[in-house]
Amino acid sequence: MFKSIILAAGKGTRMKSETPKVLHTIFNKTLLGYVLDAVNDTGLADENFVIVGHQAEKVAEFVKDNYDNAKTILQEPQLGTGHAVSMALPFLENYDGEIVILCGDTPLIQSETIREFVEYHKNSQSDITVMSAIFDEPANYGRIIRSANDKVLAIIEEKDATPEQKAIKEINAGIYCINWSKVKRAFSELNTNNAQGEYYLTDIIKWGNNNGLSVNGYVLKDNEEIFGINSKLNLAQASKMLNRKVVNKHMANGVTIVDPDTTWISPETSIEADTIIYPSCYIEGKNTIGRNCAIGPFAHLRGDVVLEDNVKIGNFVEVKKTRVKSHTNACHLTYLGDSEIGSNVNIGAGTITANYNPLSKVKSKTVIEDNVKIGSNSVLVAPVEIKEGANVGALSVITKNIPSWALAITRAPIRIVEDWVKRKM
Ligand code: UD1
Ligand code: CA
Repeated sequence: MFKSIILAAGKGTRMKSETPKVLHTIFNKTLLGYVLDAVNDTGLADENFVIVGHQAEKVAEFVKDNYDNAKTILQEPQLGTGHAVSMALPFLENYDGEIVILCGDTPLIQSETIREFVEYHKNSQSDITVMSAIFDEPANYGRIIRSANDKVLAIIEEKDATPEQKAIKEINAGIYCINWSKVKRAFSELNTNNAQGEYYLTDIIKWGNNNGLSVNGYVLKDNEEIFGINSKLNLAQASKMLNRKVVNKHMANGVTIVDPDTTWISPETSIEADTIIYPSCYIEGKNTIGRNCAIGPFAHLRGDVVLEDNVKIGNFVEVKKTRVKSHTNACHLTYLGDSEIGSNVNIGAGTITANYNPLSKVKSKTVIEDNVKIGSNSVLVAPVEIKEGANVGALSVITKNIPSWALAITRAPIRIVEDWVKRKM
């Protein structure tokens, strides 16, 4: 087991936003949420500390509302990454296990990587392990200084580096695993004698070497995992990277994706083989999609959607909190929300489940049983149930339950006025 410290007190000026940087989202999940989930998904973290500063209240509220095993600690003022970690000292006085330190703005870090990293730390009997990466263009990162026998001697920040040091391509990824009881003393010995006048967390490396500790480096395999968010451009880039990984995984599992560049699928969506996803779909939240389904082009799944096998969700169809049983089609221009839909159902073009009453602000459920046919342009005003086999005529507004095998139709009868046009001419 370990505990984590996640640094999230920095300002994030370049986001130019009133939302704290780590509460920006990818697929509706916050950047900090990705990091906390990655840590928790290792199954090895029993407690997490999030260091907050700028807009601390908002970040603290998010953590409190969403993570039982995380606490926030205020860092005020923010005097550097080393100072940030030292804020956790009073909470960890008697702790003598491992601490994993991460940043709240690197949402692509994978739990498998954290697991491997901690395992490496244990197997190499390290007291301090730093995660590094090899970058062709290492600008702005701290550089890893190694000894001839590959021990990590120091990390030098770009702003403090000599030209020779700047040429080093191994950089500090900003993730550390430390033996807390051996290293905690370092935090009272850090100083601000550097180009930025900050307490550098990176100085624990040199401190460890000076104090006879074993310091090692673990080289990251996939550099994208430590991609940090500093701007809205970075946020879009990270979203694309994450989406590309998800889309690739589904293709490897046998899902047909016609255009990976315009298909968005959240990491929490599962899809079975032989389903085909046409271009320009946006699938967010948690969804379960079966085999042989066809989705899109231009479909929007908004979460809590379950599609059984052989379901068709066509163009300009939006689906939210809805279960659709097998062999059911909603092929065009439709909204299905808060619904349960049986199998062999046909939902005509332009069908709307009117699930929301904006006056009472209450959302209600629509139930459509097996073999129902809904005619085009119908509005099903929830709460409402269309029982097995019933038909709804096109253009109907359904405000009460329809019994099995009945026809419901609210359309005004057709009127034909002979020669009306000629008389007007
Ligand atoms: C840091 C590392 C650098 C590494 C890089 C990886 C130091 C001195 N340098 O640089 O070697 O290559 O990360 O991304 O650690 N934060 C606080 N409180 C503070 C200062 C920062 O919580 O007082 C948080 C920030 O919100 C951020 C993280 O710490 O999440 C990193 O801080 P940042 O200033 O971005 O560090 P870098 O200059 O990128
Ligand atoms: Ca900095």
